Amino acid sequence: MQATTQNFPSVPLLDVNRGNQALRDELIQALTEVVDSGKFLHGPQVTELEVQLAKLCHSRHAIGCASGSDALLLALMALELEPGDEVIVPSFTFFATASCVDRLGVKIVFADINPQTYNIAPAAIEARITHRTRAIIPVHLFGQSAEIDEICKIGARHDIPVIEDAAQAIGAAYHGRPIGSWGQMGCLSFYPTKNLGGLGDGGMLTTSNDSLNDRLRLLAAHGMKPRYYHSAVGINSRLDTLQAAALLVKTKRLADYTSARQSNATRYSMMFEQSGLSQKIGLPFQDPAAFHVWNQYSLRVGEGRRDALKTYLQQNGVGCEIYYPVPLHQQQCFRGMECAKVSLPETDRAAREILHIPVYPELTSSEQHRVVDVINQYYREAYNKAVA
Ligand SMILES: Cc1ncc(COP(=O)(O)O)c(C=O)c1O
Repeated sequence: MQATTQNFPSVPLLDVNRGNQALRDELIQALTEVVDSGKFLHGPQVTELEVQLAKLCHSRHAIGCASGSDALLLALMALELEPGDEVIVPSFTFFATASCVDRLGVKIVFADINPQTYNIAPAAIEARITHRTRAIIPVHLFGQSAEIDEICKIGARHDIPVIEDAAQAIGAAYHGRPIGSWGQMGCLSFYPTKNLGGLGDGGMLTTSNDSLNDRLRLLAAHGMKPRYYHSAVGINSRLDTLQAAALLVKTKRLADYTSARQSNATRYSMMFEQSGLSQKIGLPFQDPAAFHVWNQYSLRVGEGRRDALKTYLQQNGVGCEIYYPVPLHQQQCFRGMECAKVSLPETDRAAREILHIPVYPELTSSEQHRVVDVINQYYREAYNKAVA
């Protein structure tokens, strides 16, 4: 463990080794079995993981693919969009939620967020629907479901499919129903920072629609069926057997990881209340209908103090990060495009004020105390400077 200048051990934002080292023997055994089998693609572990995650998400099908980004791309490809079609997405999200739309040559339409949950706001979606809207992609950001019941009602009312970007929220639910089962399709990511993190890239789609299942499998395999006969222009996007084998080891522990994240979040909230810091910084809002799986614990730091607090935490060995500092409608790659000419005040404010602190399952309570102490220290010093 690295020591900081004041000789306190540093607290990393995330340490994937803590979880993986605890499973080292099991992971190596699982990987060795794949190496010995020689079935690096389409191995039985891929099917087994698909079965387990379909069950977890209450979906009839789950389809492995190479990443969460590919899952989103494949979901949109399955809808056979045409130039001029529009897809509604949040701007306050990771890039992949919107890049899949642009890559297919259709129009990105950004909608603003609910300032409490940071998730896309149903009313903002409805206001942006036109006769060209062909899909809505809500993101279950930071591990908390968007208001997916309302969003699906809007989708049904206008006959527009909903694709859930559940990259950050595997295991989450809304009104007791798992995310990934609400929309026509759901997209999961196994990027190592996710709640079910692999040993590299990986992703999965969920759907309960049989023809979408067939279409997605076809598109993920070059649009090829039977071999060397192509009925569609697909891509090559597979979940490797090695990756599936490692993920099966971790899937067994997903419920434990989730409850450890939930305990850490509850402990933080108690600590922030008890220290009085909750008067100064905004704690994450929990939608009572949501089973939140805490991929991230976000603080809202107003009064223009966010960047200074981030620097202070880092100088004192506390890992922190801003998800996301630049909303997508402000990104350079979209500059001048129609999608960027939009006013999203809540998105802009969140990007200015949000800050994330460690919440991963293996984080200890003494590390959490350290995080809260350093934040307290920052505010004490800022107060002393102000009155000096
Ligand atoms: C909201 C969101 N969507 C999509 C993705 C893309 O997933 P991947 O990194 O597996 O491509 C990510 C994660 O990186 C994400 O956080």
